[in-house]
Amino acid sequence: MRGRSKEDKFPGFVATRMSGRDWYENATIYSLDIKTFNDSDGDGWGDFRGAIEKLDYLDELGVDAVWLRPFYPSPLRDNGYDVADYYGVDERLGTLAEFREFAATAHDRDIRVLTDLVFNHTSNHHEWFRRAREDPSSEYHDYYLWTSHVEDAHNRENIFPEYEDGVWSYDDVAGKHYFHQFYEHQPDLNVANPAVREELYDVLRFWLDQGADGFRIDAAHPMLMPKGHDATTLDETDLGDGIELFKEMRRVVAAEQSDAVLLAEADDEPERLDYYFGDGEAFHLQFNFVMNAHLTYAIGVQDTWPIRRAEEILPDVEGVGHWVNFLRNHDEWNLLKLPEETFEHAREFFGDDAGDSWIFERGHRLRLADLYAGDHDRIAMAHSLLFALPGTPALQSGDEIGMGSDLSLPEREAVRTPMQWDDSPNGGFSTADPENCYNPVIDEGEYAYDRINVAAQRDDPDSLLSRVRNLSAARDRCPEIAPVNYAPVDVDPKEVWVHRFDDGDTTLLCAHNFADEHREVVCGFDVDPDGVERIVGPGGYHVADGGVTLWLDDCEYVWLRGER
Ligand code: NOJ
Repeated sequence: MRGRSKEDKFPGFVATRMSGRDWYENATIYSLDIKTFNDSDGDGWGDFRGAIEKLDYLDELGVDAVWLRPFYPSPLRDNGYDVADYYGVDERLGTLAEFREFAATAHDRDIRVLTDLVFNHTSNHHEWFRRAREDPSSEYHDYYLWTSHVEDAHNRENIFPEYEDGVWSYDDVAGKHYFHQFYEHQPDLNVANPAVREELYDVLRFWLDQGADGFRIDAAHPMLMPKGHDATTLDETDLGDGIELFKEMRRVVAAEQSDAVLLAEADDEPERLDYYFGDGEAFHLQFNFVMNAHLTYAIGVQDTWPIRRAEEILPDVEGVGHWVNFLRNHDEWNLLKLPEETFEHAREFFGDDAGDSWIFERGHRLRLADLYAGDHDRIAMAHSLLFALPGTPALQSGDEIGMGSDLSLPEREAVRTPMQWDDSPNGGFSTADPENCYNPVIDEGEYAYDRINVAAQRDDPDSLLSRVRNLSAARDRCPEIAPVNYAPVDVDPKEVWVHRFDDGDTTLLCAHNFADEHREVVCGFDVDPDGVERIVGPGGYHVADGGVTLWLDDCEYVWLRGER
């Protein structure tokens, strides 16, 4: 039996803005970290109470779902992706009751809550690992992967290559090496152990019960990678093909709440990405890393070919799952999906002069604003295209106001500075002494909080924030934005990207000028010239004789709807 839906559980919750489609197909997702969003008690750490205070802000922005990055008890050696207890809230961030209150308050605003679950590994502070290392005969020992003969064991490059040498580390309590694909303090879980799987399913049930509406499953690709001494893959076990693990997770969440979602972080090769949807029985959603690298690059270098290429190399997932598109996230901007020469170009073109932004041999620890030299017109146009493309748009907290990075912070913390709310001390994030803030607020240079903040942009109709808000509202008014209706349109010049959605008698045409100069474009638009509606965007147009002439100043965009 399928579980109750959100509407059944919370009367008054307006689940679907567009009938006949699943809620997540056109939702706007907003990624935030409780630690750096808003501090309510002045201790320098963001907290659930602080985030509750800002739910109206997210509502105004048109957010349909927040994705909360890890908030569980953790030694925080990987920003919380090193979980020490799946069932709690880090006490610096709040309590379980406050999580529930956050979820209930979000639901009052028709905002769903997705939490981040890290199932590939735990922290080495997790109780399971403590027991595993102390007692080889304990059932917890087999929750992890060990070898007593590391010289014969399968080894490969660590996912954090600059920081770790290979995938084995010695544990002097167990007297053996344990397997870890990420940092040495993140031992991989043995997901081929049925007892581990049952633990993970219980965690899913627990958080749904607390009010979560779905999960971002961290490191879904590494979960399926060959693991342990003999590099065993799940298909070599009697648990069946690897995807069965995610199919079972979907059955588990569906049994609890029929409209709960699973979102995969699976940065795998393009030709393998459809696998994670499990023919419509595993993940509902998947981050589109291929499009991310190409889209953000294309807009930065003012050329549209990378978007075409991304579309060509992506598998067709129609009917089995949905992409989540994004411009940046909280990690490095990973360039590995670009062709080799383009990768090298992106490394040079977008990097800082000192080469400090380059990390993990694959990307830049820079925010979107840094990549686009602080140009709000370019950032707004990038968001316009993000909202106009088929796929669910995901925003990165702070990008909607053009926040920058702090390269003096270690590693990826550079892009995880606190949210800049106003021009008061600490950007309104916290009343604590700056030295006590989880991360310092950016207080100098062009991205300093006295220049870049929510308060300064909120009521200015031309601000980046207002433009992003308008775009999110525009997306809500365009139910025709769907993969099945989508077609790119060939135009000249190559700096302008045009695509259309044909739905019944209606056509929505979206045009974006990547160039930093004016461009004029002519293309087919077979609609009634008298009934053309401008949905959003400042671009000029003239519709006549089955075509449209578009006049787009630098970084301008326009979405037009007409009847055929
Ligand atoms: C992906 C997360 O986005 C990243 O921040 C984390 O370090 C790794 N997974 C390991 O959990």
